[in-house]
Amino acid sequence: MLQNFDSTDFFNHYWQKKPLLIKGAIPHFQSPLERDELASLSLEEFAQSRLVLTGDKIEKKEDYLVEHGPFLPDRFESLGTKNWNLLIQEVDHWSEEILHLRNYFSFIPHWRFDDVMASLGVSGGQVGAHLDWYDVFILQAEGTKQWLLEERPRSFEKFEGKHIIEDLEVKLLSDFSPKLEFNLEPGDVLYIPIGYAHQGINNSTCLSYSFGLRAPTLRDMIVEHLKSELEVIHEDERLKDDPSTWQRPGQIPENLVVSLLKTWPKSLTLPTNPQLWFGKLVTTPMRHELSAVAEHSDEELMTLLHNGDFFRNPHARVAYYLGEKSISLFANGERLSLERNPTMTKLMEVICDQLNFDGQDLLPFVKMDGLKLLLRFLYEQQTLLIEE
Ligand code: SIN
Ligand code: CO
Repeated sequence: MLQNFDSTDFFNHYWQKKPLLIKGAIPHFQSPLERDELASLSLEEFAQSRLVLTGDKIEKKEDYLVEHGPFLPDRFESLGTKNWNLLIQEVDHWSEEILHLRNYFSFIPHWRFDDVMASLGVSGGQVGAHLDWYDVFILQAEGTKQWLLEERPRSFEKFEGKHIIEDLEVKLLSDFSPKLEFNLEPGDVLYIPIGYAHQGINNSTCLSYSFGLRAPTLRDMIVEHLKSELEVIHEDERLKDDPSTWQRPGQIPENLVVSLLKTWPKSLTLPTNPQLWFGKLVTTPMRHELSAVAEHSDEELMTLLHNGDFFRNPHARVAYYLGEKSISLFANGERLSLERNPTMTKLMEVICDQLNFDGQDLLPFVKMDGLKLLLRFLYEQQTLLIEE
């Protein structure tokens, strides 16, 4: 158990809320592995390791260099006076004694642990200001390290990702504004909650262990759940449609739900807007990539109504849904929302109910609001072929 620590108080006041420094959490702590023993793990193929070399300030690409292991033994001899810090992931997988350090954190269930990462470096070494989308306990093992943290967590919905340097695994924040400072000595533990931007800078030759507590993402959980749902659905099981719901040839049925409910597993909810979801699904091209069509301006398109013949591209898939107030026109998986009125409904019948029509059929609609927009949409979705 950690000293100077009350897990009930921690869960009530700190867990995923605010950082906590636990001074003297493990009195007289001695690292089970020496720095050299840990560093030698980074020479091995099986260990994931990164060496971060930084300038005194990190402002541009040249100030930050990451090298990936496995390293050659002489790599650490040729570092010179550079600020360096070595990170070795999953050290608990290779050392039983390090695995057992997790017992200090037994107030957190085992399945919540991702890994223990060793971090070692020289004075000035660091990995830069960043944030992690998981909670972490940092245990200072040797030397002293300064940690700077922002006062509040960021939320991933609003996180704009202003990074100093793009294309790095660790996204370095250009707008880091730390308000909290913690100085860790051997045996101290710092809890950094998910989303708190932070930066650790070695004050001396240093070794620390990061206990990462990564929770599964909502996406992963849903994917896993859906995978198990899918496993019991036969690949040839298809929509059991109810022909009494069918309406005009180009129309997505108003009563589509009747057919969906005949088909859908009871354990899953239906899509929120079933007709819109279905319209996109059934108009997505199945076998053919659509070939590019000639470029025409809006004005040219309107002129072509008078002297051109319009054909439905045989590879195109088009449908419409008459909603209460609007009409959704689907073409090749894309949707255009139009105002519902009798003229627009008539136009849908011309364009979507027939597989072939010509420019003349569209002339009665020339003065209609929205015709240009609609033609542009169909044209850009490569639905219309025009012969002059
Ligand atoms: C470090 O040890 O400096 C980096 C660890 C972290 O921020 O996750
Ligand atoms: Co971090």
